Amino acid sequence: TVLVVDYGAQYAQLIARRVREARVYSEVVPHTLPAADIISRRPAAVILSGGPSSVYADGAPGVEKELFEAGIPVLGICYGFQAMAHALGGEVTRTGQREYGKTEVRATTAPHGLLDGTDRVQTTWMSHGDAVTAAPEGFEVLAVSEAAPVACFADEERKLYGVQWHPEVKHSPQGQRVIENFLYSGAGLNPEWTTGSIVEEQVAAIREQVGDAQAICGLSGGVDSAVAAALVQKAIGDQLTCVFVDHGLMREGEAEQVERDFVAATGAKLHVADEKKRFLSALQGVTDPEEKRKIIGREFIRAFEEAERNILEEAQAEGASVEFLVQGTLYPDVVESGGGEGAANIKSHHNVGGLPDDLDFRLVEPLRALFKDEVRAVGAELGLPAEIVQRQPFPGPGLGIRIIGEVTERNLDILRTADAIAREELTRSGLDSEVWQMPVVLLADVRSVGVQGDGRTYGHPVVLRPVSSEDAMTADWSRLPYDLLATISNRITNEVEEVNRVTLDVTSKPPGTIEWE
Ligand code: XMP
Repeated sequence: TVLVVDYGAQYAQLIARRVREARVYSEVVPHTLPAADIISRRPAAVILSGGPSSVYADGAPGVEKELFEAGIPVLGICYGFQAMAHALGGEVTRTGQREYGKTEVRATTAPHGLLDGTDRVQTTWMSHGDAVTAAPEGFEVLAVSEAAPVACFADEERKLYGVQWHPEVKHSPQGQRVIENFLYSGAGLNPEWTTGSIVEEQVAAIREQVGDAQAICGLSGGVDSAVAAALVQKAIGDQLTCVFVDHGLMREGEAEQVERDFVAATGAKLHVADEKKRFLSALQGVTDPEEKRKIIGREFIRAFEEAERNILEEAQAEGASVEFLVQGTLYPDVVESGGGEGAANIKSHHNVGGLPDDLDFRLVEPLRALFKDEVRAVGAELGLPAEIVQRQPFPGPGLGIRIIGEVTERNLDILRTADAIAREELTRSGLDSEVWQMPVVLLADVRSVGVQGDGRTYGHPVVLRPVSSEDAMTADWSRLPYDLLATISNRITNEVEEVNRVTLDVTSKPPGTIEWE
């Protein structure tokens, strides 16, 4: 394992991802972890991340010298580089000359070692105020920049390396090469952590954890629960029962994806609770967004618990016991909740449509170590169809919060048809990967006048809400090509009788949220 020590900027997770892209397993640890603890975990290498501080700031996190004396290869990045220089007796100075953004870095000799295979002058992305002005003893200065007399150094003897720039960001085009040089030549690691090896490891771990007991897994139609279930299914076969609560608020074809395609791909035992009527009647007459969420969340939990009771009774009749609940917790949630062993701490509104937290099970969380893109790769490796593994985020309360007005069967049908057209055309245009998600919202409370053929219409508008985003916390509206927008608009107004107007939402987040409710 390569440990990435997080100095509190946003970069640590990104570094871990880049290491994994180099097919070496890595984890993030907080900078408060003492060097002795890092060493006792016997990492194959350590990377010190960037951070917001200056090594001279009050209370600036440092790095204990013993970390560099344990024979573990270490790469310092930006703040980590300066902390390393500082700890080993180099000179870090407040030059007052900030470098921020794209910065040229010049190799002092023919690029070798950490810089092997990179250009003599390379573009990097920098963000620093202090600079290393003298390398510690034993280090060779490999590169300089205008404001950094030491922009990169290496001590091949002790396997200690550092760069002032951020090799993990895409704005440092040769950064991945630098990281790989550190991993492969510096630390002598091999690119062995592959999707296949993740599956093998997890299957063995799940078998060991679950033994002869039984497990259940709720399927939401999303990527994470599908991949978690598929992994557990591969490990323990029919000891797993999957539960799908069909609340009738899914988009076109999604229930079938779970009931037909997921089962076909995995052979999983699936219990479907058809609860469409229950949700419709609970939502009758309700238009307030928060009330909708509450009702959907509450009914979901009730429906899940009923299904669960059935499964427990069946198992009991056969003399078996259901002890485990499978959850699709991902690594970013684990890191953000402090890396503890407990359930991930997910933002409260994201729990709507989630499971109750007092279920009396032990958790199986086979995706706890994985980033989203890795989960998708594992899903593909397990044979799940692309429609499932490439699925864009979709809220738990589903179309229920994309109908402005009352959630009725009629409104759901209208929205489902319009949404299916929009998604089909987006996919056809090849732009799926440019768009984080594209809600289609039905303004069921609004009507506008239109004209079709010889007649006047008085129909509903729909809103297209394509957004680009990294993490849904902020977002910008996607600049989709006019031709694509025109096609979507023409098709929706032609094919969905009740819709006579298609509008585009051009609001970023903030101030708008991604969803309309
Ligand atoms: P907003 O609308 O807050 O959405 O910008 C941010 C992200 O969260 C999704 N979302 C939800 N997901 N239950 C969920 O599971 C919810 O109640 C919910 N509301 C919003 C939304 O689709 C977007 O990806």
